[in-house]
Amino acid sequence: MAEPLRQHPPRETAAELAELYGRLSRWPDVEAENLVAADAADRLLVDAVLAALAEEKDAPRIVVFGERYGAMALGLAAALRTPDEDEAGPAGRQSAGPHGPGGGPVLVVTDSQVHRSAVFQNAAREGLAELVAFEDLDGLAAALSGDPFLAVGAVPRAHAVADEWADAVARLPGCRALVLAGMVKHLSPGLNTALAESFEDVAGSRARQKARLVWCTGPRPGLPQLSFEERTVHTLDRGLRLTAVGVPGAFGASRIDPGTRVLLPLLREELASSTPPRIVDLGCGNGTVSAYAKLVDPEVSVTATDVSHAAIRSTRLTAAANGVEVKTMADDALSSWLDASEDFIVLNPPFHLGNTVTEDIAVKLFEAAARVLRPGGTLLAVWNQPLAYSGRLRRIVGPTERIGGNRKFQVTRSIKA
Ligand SMILES: C[S@@+](CC[C@H](N)C(=O)[O-])C[C@H]1O[C@@H](n2cnc3c(N)ncnc32)[C@H](O)[C@@H]1O
Repeated sequence: MAEPLRQHPPRETAAELAELYGRLSRWPDVEAENLVAADAADRLLVDAVLAALAEEKDAPRIVVFGERYGAMALGLAAALRTPDEDEAGPAGRQSAGPHGPGGGPVLVVTDSQVHRSAVFQNAAREGLAELVAFEDLDGLAAALSGDPFLAVGAVPRAHAVADEWADAVARLPGCRALVLAGMVKHLSPGLNTALAESFEDVAGSRARQKARLVWCTGPRPGLPQLSFEERTVHTLDRGLRLTAVGVPGAFGASRIDPGTRVLLPLLREELASSTPPRIVDLGCGNGTVSAYAKLVDPEVSVTATDVSHAAIRSTRLTAAANGVEVKTMADDALSSWLDASEDFIVLNPPFHLGNTVTEDIAVKLFEAAARVLRPGGTLLAVWNQPLAYSGRLRRIVGPTERIGGNRKFQVTRSIKA
């Protein structure tokens, strides 16, 4: 399958797609006037894939990587679906429902739980919920069961993530091509080099509205199995050895964040003095905090949660590498937790949303912790000195005191009022 000469679908399809994109919502992700649910890269990808498949009798299955709000998955599902058998076949026959391209749902592999929710809600609103299904990378082989498929996606921020996608799909029987879309400013020759490890031909398309596609064809299925896990053994306070494991896309890979390094010995002291029966590691990243808590206090029960599925995978691997048990839950800001249900939460909040520095996520996580803590419960947080979160923590959670830190980081204990 090659890049088509035309990049536009027929006028009627284009109009339907434009309406669909206009109706997509970013919720529950941050919404603002300058933030869109379908960008030029999404639209270029859908148009080019439809043009390429127009030449073919039967559409293949579709796998979508890095979906955010559903523009790619829902655009392709809507344009390529085959109608309900009742509509097409003899009257009175039991409905088999509409089918997605290639006879199955479009498979969506995406890291953030917020994006999964957004795709799910948009699909439901559009009446397309049956035509999309969420999968993890290692569930793709079973879900596709050897069917021919086309993999598409949004260029990820880290090359290692694209490298892992390309490696995974190139090994599967039936892989026709991998097509990634991104804004020109986010594409680089390094990405093509990474993709060329799994595909014979990697070529950039013409740009449209500052977006471009990368077409990868000729999968190399016989490559030696690669491991994308990164492992580092760290020596921490009092000589404690901890192995951190990171998979592509997880915060910090297998490194220990400098703020977390400051937090850990203070967490040890808190656990020694207050012995909570269980703690929640909110925004667990690679699971360093969870594994550390279990290593210093084997009695404490630890639940690690993160919006990123890569973080959850890393946390499970980190727990296993240290021989400790940690419960894990992919979730957006404790949304599955009941009010006033926990006594102790640990948090190193992020201060980036994509490429933008923002305090919104930290505030959202402080509010989540305040809702979930019982009165008298503790939020232990570390944050960069210039962010000056004390006032916010006091307002949102309750009395807050600095219990340690250095010139760069503050560690605070807030008690739920
Ligand atoms: C600064 S990292 C800290 C990671 C880890 N706790 C550590 O100390 O190394 C912040 C983490 O918060 C996660 N995060 C961001 N938004 C979140 C949300 N809405 N709900 C849960 N976790 C979130 C990120 O995916 C990231 O792993």
